[in-house]
Amino acid sequence: MILPRIGTPHAWAIGLGSVTRERLAGPVETVCGRLPDGLRGTFYRNGPARHALGGRRYRHWFDGDGMVQAFTFTDAGVQHRGRFVETHKHAEERAAGRFLYAAFGTRFRGARLREAADALNTANTNVVPHHGRLLALWEGGSAHGLDPASLATEGPITWSEATAGKPFSAHPSVEPDGTLWNFGISPMDQALMLYEIAPDGRLRRAESVPLPAVPLVHDFAVTQRYLVFLLPPMHFRLARLMAGRSILGSYRWEPAHGLRALVVDKADWQRRWWFQLDAGFVFHFGGGWDDGAAVYLDYERYAGPGVVNDFARRIMRGRTPHLDPARVTQARLDLATGRAEETQLAGASEFPALHPGYVGGRYRFRYSAVMDGEARHPFMNGLRRLDLETGGEVRYSFGPDRIAEEHIVVPKPHGTGEADAWLLGTVLDLTRARTHLTVFDAAALGDGPVFEAALPYALPLGFHGNFAPT
Ligand SMILES: [Fe+2]
Repeated sequence: MILPRIGTPHAWAIGLGSVTRERLAGPVETVCGRLPDGLRGTFYRNGPARHALGGRRYRHWFDGDGMVQAFTFTDAGVQHRGRFVETHKHAEERAAGRFLYAAFGTRFRGARLREAADALNTANTNVVPHHGRLLALWEGGSAHGLDPASLATEGPITWSEATAGKPFSAHPSVEPDGTLWNFGISPMDQALMLYEIAPDGRLRRAESVPLPAVPLVHDFAVTQRYLVFLLPPMHFRLARLMAGRSILGSYRWEPAHGLRALVVDKADWQRRWWFQLDAGFVFHFGGGWDDGAAVYLDYERYAGPGVVNDFARRIMRGRTPHLDPARVTQARLDLATGRAEETQLAGASEFPALHPGYVGGRYRFRYSAVMDGEARHPFMNGLRRLDLETGGEVRYSFGPDRIAEEHIVVPKPHGTGEADAWLLGTVLDLTRARTHLTVFDAAALGDGPVFEAALPYALPLGFHGNFAPT
């Protein structure tokens, strides 16, 4: 059912296995603790799960078709099910029994490339509940709507005629009132698309902002007044794509341009500020806030694009990669003077998460996956809570043989503070080849999970998820 990758002695390669069934369902066995009484709802995760088909295997971690995993918490315990997103590509390739289309990081000889990005859409990066439906997200094309109960795919979402098929990133930001902000980088238009979607799921505004180049931008920050972007000097060159390179291979690292920051006024998208920072590569923001005069951000900063250009390729061949890990970095962007200052806080971190009730406002606690140096694999193996006010941190290590995936913050019902929350995520146990679900009390991370359960199988390593309470 789940085929480990070929020809490697590394136990961690099970995390890059390919799921050969359309759906998964299995009993979830409690390992320790008990499911907290107030934790009721469904935890959804997304990630690439079809890495191989018809004897061919993708060469980049980000290429595989998206499979959404759902962990539902009820009084009877936890149930798990998984289902592939039925994108156009997934359905057509399944019928053909082989890969037909170019993927993000792999372009097999003869692979089809289409100007309509949704032909290549794998919907494999994130899954976000919004206004009663689930959005399965990629970053180069449309969101796909899913039924939250059955995980059946309803199809690509068209917010408006003008935005049909336009890129809609995998990292929308949902404010506490339900307003969803998002962006998309459109290489063909050389533009940044901006979206504001009302809590009722209807598009309020969408516009495109012209860019001087087409950078690889994966995430952004929403503050009380602004939308904030960091634009790494990783630029798309159409001529490279036309010459036969993969989509990723069509980007060039041009550090002389530095890392640019763009701030857009939420109320008036024509009001924009540009800032210049030293060259670097960024996937993920913890978050951001502003006081009107300046914007404050934190993000995972890499020295260069090795994480996407090298790490995510080598692991697919079962080779141990070298990675210069991301460092948690804070920036202050002064809107009056145009000055940007950066401070490095702490090292080796990824998959940052905040309390969702604090999105857009000032927050104190930032959670992320970290490495403790003892891991017998090249991924993260612990969690950290960083207190941005005191600089203090609390850590928990899963030990050398477990891979920590993203853990998200789920507010406790009737909770009153930022620390009144659970930390919820998945862990791949390499000793038994099983995926575990772990729940921590966010205020006592160092004490270990308050509840841990195991699936009867290993799920491929995924990317992002979110929780929908019942
Ligand atoms: Fe991401």
